[in-house]
Amino acid sequence: MTRLNSNGMRHGQADTGLRLAPELAPMRLMDLDRVMDIEAQTYEFPWTRGNFVDSLADGHLARVLRDADGQIQGYFLAMYGVDEMHLLNISVAPEQQRRGWARLMLDALVAGARAEGKTQIWLEVRRSNARALQLYQHYGFKEVGLRRAYYPARDGREDALLFSLEFKP
Ligand SMILES: CC(C)(COP(=O)(O)OP(=O)(O)OC[C@H]1O[C@@H](n2cnc3c(N)ncnc32)[C@H](O)[C@@H]1OP(=O)(O)O)[C@@H](O)C(=O)NCCC(=O)NCCS
Repeated sequence: MTRLNSNGMRHGQADTGLRLAPELAPMRLMDLDRVMDIEAQTYEFPWTRGNFVDSLADGHLARVLRDADGQIQGYFLAMYGVDEMHLLNISVAPEQQRRGWARLMLDALVAGARAEGKTQIWLEVRRSNARALQLYQHYGFKEVGLRRAYYPARDGREDALLFSLEFKP
């Protein structure tokens, strides 16, 4: 598994040594054009720009993943709870998927949560989202519940599976 340094912001990349490492940076309003671009490419029912604006205004943990050329290739947003964090959105640009970026962002989320003294991460995922299910299960999340008819779907509503990852502070 890819590891971040202690502040959870940078990922060392040991290839040629000539390229800059991919970097996680706080999401800003000026990032939202590209974020919305990725959102539209990755979801049938994407978040609106307003959802992102509200999340940033609410002070959620929000990070963008920039590649070596500075282009945003992914992002995640998570809400702070008392002892836990709730992952609201994690996405990777389609042409950049399967390169370990989502794992890298989960590492940063866990590091960020630990830094705040949290011991658990919650998330919901569509029952039909096989890639995300694989990601969370392989990362160590456990399925702990079900929210019926949680998401909009083409033919009505779709259930969400509730996943949790617990860790030591
Ligand atoms: C789910 C998503 C975030 C994964 O991003 P990613 O950067 O491709 O994931 P990673 O490369 O870090 O893969 C980590 C693990 O996830 C699983 N995984 C990721 N993509 C997969 C795929 N297409 N098929 C099967 N498993 C997959 C694998 O276990 C993989 O580990 P492995 O490559 O060692 O087998 C990405 O597919 C995405 O943005 N999907 C659309 C948005 C979305 O559904 N977000 C989740 C909402 S709950």
